[in-house]
Amino acid sequence: MEDENQAQERVYHFKDRVMLHNASINITHLGVRYRSLEALDNVSCVIKPGRLTGIYGPNGAGKSTLMKAMLGLVDSSGTVLYQGKPLTEQLEKVAYVPQRSAIDWTYPATVWDVVMMGRVKKTGWLRSFSGVSRQIAKSALQRVGILEYRDRAIGQLSGGQQQRVFLARALAQEAEIFCLDEPFVGIDQKTQTVLFEVFHELAAAGKTVLVVNHDLGETTTHFDDIILLNRQIIAAGLRKQVMTEQNLYRAYGGKVMYFSDAA
Ligand SMILES: Nc1ncnc2c1ncn2[C@@H]1O[C@H](COP(=O)(O)OP(=O)(O)O)[C@@H](O)[C@H]1O
Ligand SMILES: [Mg+2]
Repeated sequence: MEDENQAQERVYHFKDRVMLHNASINITHLGVRYRSLEALDNVSCVIKPGRLTGIYGPNGAGKSTLMKAMLGLVDSSGTVLYQGKPLTEQLEKVAYVPQRSAIDWTYPATVWDVVMMGRVKKTGWLRSFSGVSRQIAKSALQRVGILEYRDRAIGQLSGGQQQRVFLARALAQEAEIFCLDEPFVGIDQKTQTVLFEVFHELAAAGKTVLVVNHDLGETTTHFDDIILLNRQIIAAGLRKQVMTEQNLYRAYGGKVMYFSDAA
């Protein structure tokens, strides 16, 4: 019997398909177990570059787990390929901003320290402090509008400012793939605007931008593609095709009222 994998391989025979396939992140049969809990079950989807992709689903749906599994931060079964090779072998191409609640804000680092850490990941300790690196870190802080806070301790910043620091660090990394987990939680409207501006710029530059969210709201309309998750993939693809009442009901149950913007 021919399974999905074999069918895909057959398709990749054609050269143009290979090109198309290679540029994306291909997740195939991804599964994660935490002891007796099956957090992700048989998740397969494609995440395309040059587009803004949102992962939506209720609390406990496995959104953070999906991102962590992609980056090899939790044990998983299945495969995650980027440009045809395991993503975990190319983590230098990834900038990851975890959920704010997962970061230790008492850690005694300044805004500048945190952004320079992005350069360490990119170049290693010795080269990270070059003039070029400092200029890149400075531009990143400027881009998110918090250069004047460069000497502040990160613990003293507001939620929105903290989120901007981590976005600046991600930018300083000069990554190809940007993964952010619930960046809109506990931030101000201005920060949300800056975040979406930067995401759109990155996508326009051909980067892959993947953002986890749980609240269905106006943020959904910014995304080109949406992955609707509840332990399994409920639907994935073009926003307008995914955000139907039926799919949302299957993902969230009766817990939310949402009026689909699908035409
Ligand atoms: N390290 C862990 N050990 C055990 N269970 C976990 C762990 N991390 C997450 N879980 C459980 O796995 C499920 C999915 O969690 P998570 O990926 O954080 O969901 P989401 O980000 O969508 O809210 C939840 O039921 C959560 O309680
Ligand atoms: Mg989460």
